[in-house]
Amino acid sequence: MGKRILITGGAGCLGSNLVEHYSAQGHAICVMDNFATSSRQLIPQFSPHPVVEGTIADGELVNRTFDQFAPTHVIHSAAAYKDPNDWHEDIATNVVGTLHVARAARRHGVSRLVHFQTALCYGRATRLPIPVDHPVAPFTSYGISKVAGEAYLMQSGLSAVSLRLANICGPRLSIGPIPTFYRRLKEGKSCFCSKTVRDFLDMSDFLSLMDLVLEVNAPCGIFNVSTGEGHGIRDVFEAVASHLGLVPAPPLEVEPGPDDVRETVLDPSRTSDAFGWRPRVSFAQTMARQLQWYDSNGVAAVYSHLSAPKA
Ligand SMILES: NC(=O)c1ccc[n+]([C@@H]2O[C@H](COP(=O)([O-])OP(=O)(O)OC[C@H]3O[C@@H](n4cnc5c(N)ncnc54)[C@H](O)[C@@H]3O)[C@@H](O)[C@H]2O)c1
Repeated sequence: MGKRILITGGAGCLGSNLVEHYSAQGHAICVMDNFATSSRQLIPQFSPHPVVEGTIADGELVNRTFDQFAPTHVIHSAAAYKDPNDWHEDIATNVVGTLHVARAARRHGVSRLVHFQTALCYGRATRLPIPVDHPVAPFTSYGISKVAGEAYLMQSGLSAVSLRLANICGPRLSIGPIPTFYRRLKEGKSCFCSKTVRDFLDMSDFLSLMDLVLEVNAPCGIFNVSTGEGHGIRDVFEAVASHLGLVPAPPLEVEPGPDDVRETVLDPSRTSDAFGWRPRVSFAQTMARQLQWYDSNGVAAVYSHLSAPKA
């Protein structure tokens, strides 16, 4: 049966890919977004779907949106992160907004609510790759507020899944080292690389897991979504330079900033056991697909949850 999927943050990178994916499968979609880190134009228009412009911090608007659309499923992708010093906005969106979405979802008896969590929830982890039962220890406003939102969600009595995500790569990605290096190298600008390690997951692998997560009777709870494989930011820089056919001056390599983490690689083994899911796209293919997408579409404005480095 066709699902009715409300996607908060549906104009964002993950949200817009989910809109595209589930519209193409024939499900009814409604997007709710305040365009804080996106724009209306980024929402794919395969089939007409309602777009509610506004913040999930507005409980009445959230309730009205649920009442009008009557979702069967909720994908809660909206999050605030763009100003690391705007703690109030992070709390308003990531905690209070999440509560509004959870309460409305419970009132409507939705079959499933999926939430996305940042790997920053683990803070500076003591084990690598980071298992999903590693203690959370966030230390940034984004991480703290996302952990609080997730914790409330898990207490809500909903059939809820929180996916703790690696760096997901795909169409419309405008955050992180890949778009930053691509844009700067193309403009002939110098780059710096933080001495950090991340894992990068292709959008197609993320979407194939999402399909499993939305199935009736799929497991609930908290899961890591990642390849489990770490790659240095310097490797990303080299891949972008090589794709562009450039031999740039070696980048300045800097220590991670006070709000950054040296190595974040998540262990996806519990997720693989629970869903029978495994990532299929290699790092090299993930990078190639991402860079080809920028060749055709360019890079949009880059937002970051990290403070700018001191030059
Ligand atoms: N993309 C990744 O690799 C990644 C990794 C870890 C966690 N996440 C999580 O996944 C989700 C989506 O991230 P993304 O990468 O697509 O980011 P994004 O910035 O592209 O998307 C977030 C969307 O939420 C919207 N938004 C922000 N505040 C809002 C509010 N108060 N009300 C309504 N909409 C609001 C933004 O305008 C944007 O469209 C977030 O919850 C994020 O924490 C993503």
